[in-house]
Amino acid sequence: TPLFLLLAASALAQTPRPGVNYDEAKVGNAPLPDLKLTTADDWKGKRRAEILQLFEDHVYGKTPSDVGSPKFEVTATKADALGGLATRKFIHISLPSRPAWPGMDVMLYTPNAVKSAPCFVGLSFGGNHAVSTEPDVPLSTRWMRESKEKHIVDHRATEATRGTESSRWPLQMILKQGFAVATAYYGDIEPDHADGWKEGLRAAASKDGADTVWKEGEWGAIGAWSWGLSRIADYLQTDPQIDGKHLAVIGHSRLGKTSLWAGAQDERFGIVISNDSGEGGAALMRRDYGETTAIITKAFPHWFTPNYARYAGNAASCPVDMHMLIALAAPRPIYIASAAEDHWADQKGEFLSGRHASPVYALFGKQGVVVDAQPAIDTPVGDFIGYHNRTGKHDVTDYDWTQYLKFASRHWAK
Ligand code: GCU
Repeated sequence: TPLFLLLAASALAQTPRPGVNYDEAKVGNAPLPDLKLTTADDWKGKRRAEILQLFEDHVYGKTPSDVGSPKFEVTATKADALGGLATRKFIHISLPSRPAWPGMDVMLYTPNAVKSAPCFVGLSFGGNHAVSTEPDVPLSTRWMRESKEKHIVDHRATEATRGTESSRWPLQMILKQGFAVATAYYGDIEPDHADGWKEGLRAAASKDGADTVWKEGEWGAIGAWSWGLSRIADYLQTDPQIDGKHLAVIGHSRLGKTSLWAGAQDERFGIVISNDSGEGGAALMRRDYGETTAIITKAFPHWFTPNYARYAGNAASCPVDMHMLIALAAPRPIYIASAAEDHWADQKGEFLSGRHASPVYALFGKQGVVVDAQPAIDTPVGDFIGYHNRTGKHDVTDYDWTQYLKFASRHWAK
């Protein structure tokens, strides 16, 4: 069943698999599609839109423009969260014109020491109660992937799930540096399994009923999750405790693919951060190393538009590669992070997409990753395109956040 495939692929993510190439000599040498750069004006007026459309047609599908206007309800406020460091709010976002979608619950922490704070915006794998260790955060009641280790029983979170994702969200560290954090459970937007769209936004928002969902060029789950990030950005524009001009979109792994696609589509995200996003994210698809287009479109077809599966075993014929996705952030700062043990995600392929997107930044008189070759482990590089390859495994750690906080502080210095 698709769910079985999903769990199997996740479990195998860190273990070398037979038939998967990890030999740099065998990655192939198909040339990357040309960015066709001329001038900054041409990029802004024309070329950027062309590339965005190629990603809609061939990779993620098109985000419908008529989904409807979101409604925001602040459901709870606590002025002395995290020992007085922050104000914590919950905001329910719904679509009155699409009542079949159950909506999403955003958890927002704003630093009490700052009047209007820049904000990191990202989805979680386990829900707000997994991100925070505060015991009064409501437990998500939504569908979750079964996991003994994460205490998900019968597809629902249990009390033991609290804080299980908190090492990936060092709230104290972020808030102390004057940044806010806005997050929501990705399954609020669409449950992450092959039939999840039926219960999620995509069926609720479809024009002619559920049977038109997931056709050629129509959005996949990554598109739906990205849409959710943009609705959080909509809310943040209305919150006086947030500096709506300084939003950084961030995500890990499949949610790193999502933050890249959200940042490509929504230019209100002034910084885009991809943590270990791998195949279908920052990693170049023409490199046969670790996960490939063939593997990902078989294990997780629902993440993409169906057209993407055409490039299974044939990535060289795809009109885009992932340096073009990174380029879509230009001239905004973007950060790509890898982990040294995360070969599945192809660290070098993640670096190279930044390297090959750097000429777009040059059009704007800005520098991208600056260096030509992948830097040594634990050596962050880059100006407008940041990159590092951290010691350790597929995860988000304090080391990663330290770099993101530095990067955001440097680019947003007041
Ligand atoms: C699997 C999948 C990756 C994905 C990862 C994750 O390993 O193959 O593409 O990034 O799950 O989201 O954790």
